[in-house]
Amino acid sequence: MHMNEVTPVMDAEAKVKPVPTLPDAQTVTEVEHYTDRLFRFRCTRPQTLRFRSGEFVMIGLMGDPDPKTGKQKPLLRAYSIASPSWDEELEFYSIKVPDGPLTSKLQHIKPGDQIILRPKPVGTLVHDALIPGKRIWFFATGTGFAPFASLLREPQTYQDYDEVIITHTCREVGELTYGRNLIEALKDDELLNEVIGDGFWKKIKYYPTTTREESPKMGRITDLIRSGDVFADLGTDPLCPQNDRAMICGNLPFNLELKELLEEAGLEEGANSKPAQYVVEKAFLE
Ligand SMILES: Cc1cc2nc3c(=O)[nH]c(=O)nc-3n(C[C@H](O)[C@H](O)[C@H](O)COP(=O)(O)OP(=O)(O)OC[C@H]3O[C@@H](n4cnc5c(N)ncnc54)[C@H](O)[C@@H]3O)c2cc1C
Ligand SMILES: NC(=O)c1ccc[n+]([C@@H]2O[C@H](COP(=O)([O-])OP(=O)(O)OC[C@H]3O[C@@H](n4cnc5c(N)ncnc54)[C@H](OP(=O)(O)O)[C@@H]3O)[C@@H](O)[C@H]2O)c1
Repeated sequence: MHMNEVTPVMDAEAKVKPVPTLPDAQTVTEVEHYTDRLFRFRCTRPQTLRFRSGEFVMIGLMGDPDPKTGKQKPLLRAYSIASPSWDEELEFYSIKVPDGPLTSKLQHIKPGDQIILRPKPVGTLVHDALIPGKRIWFFATGTGFAPFASLLREPQTYQDYDEVIITHTCREVGELTYGRNLIEALKDDELLNEVIGDGFWKKIKYYPTTTREESPKMGRITDLIRSGDVFADLGTDPLCPQNDRAMICGNLPFNLELKELLEEAGLEEGANSKPAQYVVEKAFLE
């Protein structure tokens, strides 16, 4: 074969595949904004990246050049992977902090842009950290929904438990949109329908609440557990260590209050190294 027959093919390939300009670069494929504080985006997944649904990774962008040296360093933050472990791409659900070093920039990404992704997933919100049970509770506030967006799309969740209850507490109604859309889309998820079959919709219960804007269910989930409203609304038994398993992801005071409530109900905290009845992770550092 003559060289001039090969060259055009190589040129075409070079045009299709963008040359990475960042270390550990991945390409953004989709961006959706929900409110002036929240958005989600998808990006390519490194072929070698294996993770367990519910884990987090470090992602980011290059920081501003150092005024003295002109050198740029990666600006990285922890992010829960919101997509399930089987997905070909990765999804993230993000806050926009107005003066936040990373998110003041990250909120402007567009398809075709590159982000940095360190391919070292870790975290406690994984099935392996819980012992078998009948019912699993996912308790989230704000962007703490992200790890559950992964676990809700993970077939193992429905294979391991008879019932899956997801509670999401936000200040305002618009902050529930990402979670609501995702749960709505589970109905059309071919993989889940195939694995779980007809019983699927009896298994999942969604309990969204708001605290600062009128909605069908108002109040902090912690207060609704204490008052018993959540059990009455869902028509379920109160928490018990024999049947219930739980994962918590929210702001620090929320995590601490829920831990206390679960411990009062007799559940013990687990970890990767010592599976037990519930696990906790911070949605962000205060
Ligand atoms: C284990 C772990 C997982 C995380 N997963 C996610 C995730 O999936 N999505 C996500 O948006 N963030 C997540 N975060 C927070 C994330 O790491 C960054 O803090 C966030 O992206 C803001 O970065 P920043 O540089 O703009 O501001 P930072 O300097 O990091 O934060 C500034 C301040 O903004 C507030 N803040 C930061 N993040 C949030 C948030 N998510 N919700 C509400 N207030 C916040 C806090 O008060 C914080 O002190 C996670 C943090 C941890 C520790
Ligand atoms: N969300 C917004 O519209 C908004 C706007 C501007 C700035 N901010 C700032 O952004 C930061 C994060 O805000 P955020 O709304 O994403 O998260 P957040 O303050 O962590 O609140 C998320 C939800 O968790 C609830 N909550 C807080 N502590 C709790 C506890 N101990 N037990 C049970 N539930 C609890 C809140 O209820 P309560 O409402 O009862 O606290 C709210 O519904 C804050 O510093 C905030 O000042 C937020």
